[in-house]
Amino acid sequence: MSNPSLLILPGDGIGPEVMAEVRKIIDWFGAKRDLVFDVSEDLVGGAAYDAHGTPLHDDTMAKAQEVDAVLLGAVGGPKYDVLDFSVKPERGLLRLRKEMDLFANLRPAQCFDALADFSSLKTEVVSGLDIMIVRELTSGVYFGEPRGIFEEGNERVGINTQRYTESEIERVARASFELAMKRDKKLCSMEKANVMESGILWREVVTRVGADYPEVELSHMYADAGAMQLTRWPKQFDVIVTDNLFGDLLSDLAAMLTGSLGMLPSASLGAPMANGRPKAMYEPVHGSAPDIAGQGKANPIACILSFAMALRYSFDQGDEATRLEKAIEAVLADGYRTADLLGEEGRDPVSTSAMGDAIVAALDASL
Ligand code: NAD
Ligand code: IPM
Ligand code: MN
Repeated sequence: MSNPSLLILPGDGIGPEVMAEVRKIIDWFGAKRDLVFDVSEDLVGGAAYDAHGTPLHDDTMAKAQEVDAVLLGAVGGPKYDVLDFSVKPERGLLRLRKEMDLFANLRPAQCFDALADFSSLKTEVVSGLDIMIVRELTSGVYFGEPRGIFEEGNERVGINTQRYTESEIERVARASFELAMKRDKKLCSMEKANVMESGILWREVVTRVGADYPEVELSHMYADAGAMQLTRWPKQFDVIVTDNLFGDLLSDLAAMLTGSLGMLPSASLGAPMANGRPKAMYEPVHGSAPDIAGQGKANPIACILSFAMALRYSFDQGDEATRLEKAIEAVLADGYRTADLLGEEGRDPVSTSAMGDAIVAALDASL
């Protein structure tokens, strides 16, 4: 059988820096665990715009459709702020998600013991935290029509449309119930059914799907109250399912429960392919971090944990994923900290590449 294929799209800013560390991990699994991937690399975002005048070349899109999994770094940056909206780096990422139909974005927020003191919240609020936010990723206000900036009388109006079909809600709800069944059997759905018709439909459909999962305790929360509850007592949640925009906001919020945005991975999953694997792209939750790009300061853990999710969800290598997660845990317990994990007055951070090397050393120690 041929090796599983991985398309790597490092992107912009710190994307290539954190991806270089993931490459070390991929090489380690090839050399030490006989887990060899056919890796190819291509451009996305501003890097693709610079080379081709488009944030995602059609050939790259076609490759992404063919491989077993895509691994993406981050896109965007101030250099591209002046570009027309249609060719901004972020459009490349949104096109990948839409055309691959990656409707379920799994964003786990897990607080490693070694970092429990570092969160801006009290230690007891976050210690042992392990929740999963499932963000709908291919619809909602990100893609709804009509959209645009139009003339209306003597001024302009900016329009975006929140739109969800029943089947779009149903499939992400089902994916979330399935996840809940494998975890603590608790699912909280977040919308704003009090003010939005799309929220009313969302709640109705999630409730209907819930009838197929009687073992799962289903609750509903308005998303604004959900944000409050996530900071008040996040451990009340297990799996949260929510729409595209609320999921974007709530997952950045959840990142800070774990200590840093540089810690949060994600898996963007679609329907199963012919080989039974889900269409998949793995991407850290953070962006291209222009404020620290090019300085060796980026935390590569979110991107490395995204590769761990690839091992688990695309390649049936749950044990190896756990091995990698444990290696990260060990390195953090040993006191390795990139600058984002030290706070304002933090001294002696390790560099991006030193963090990657330490994780490789911890993997060696795991054998
Ligand atoms: P950001 O996530 O890039 O950065 C927010 C803050 O978190 C910054 O202070 C940054 O230094 C810090 N940070 C983020 N990742 C880090 C890491 N791995 N290690 C250490 N610190 C880290 O968000 P932003 O500044 O709002 O956006 C910058 C650009 O990134 C924009 O163009 C935005 O559109 C894009 N973006 C892309 C993605 C993606 O590609 N998936 C996600 C979010 C934002
Ligand atoms: C994310 C990012 C993206 C989003 C942008 C860069 C398109 O913020 O992945 O969380 O809004 O989905
Ligand atoms: Mn975001």
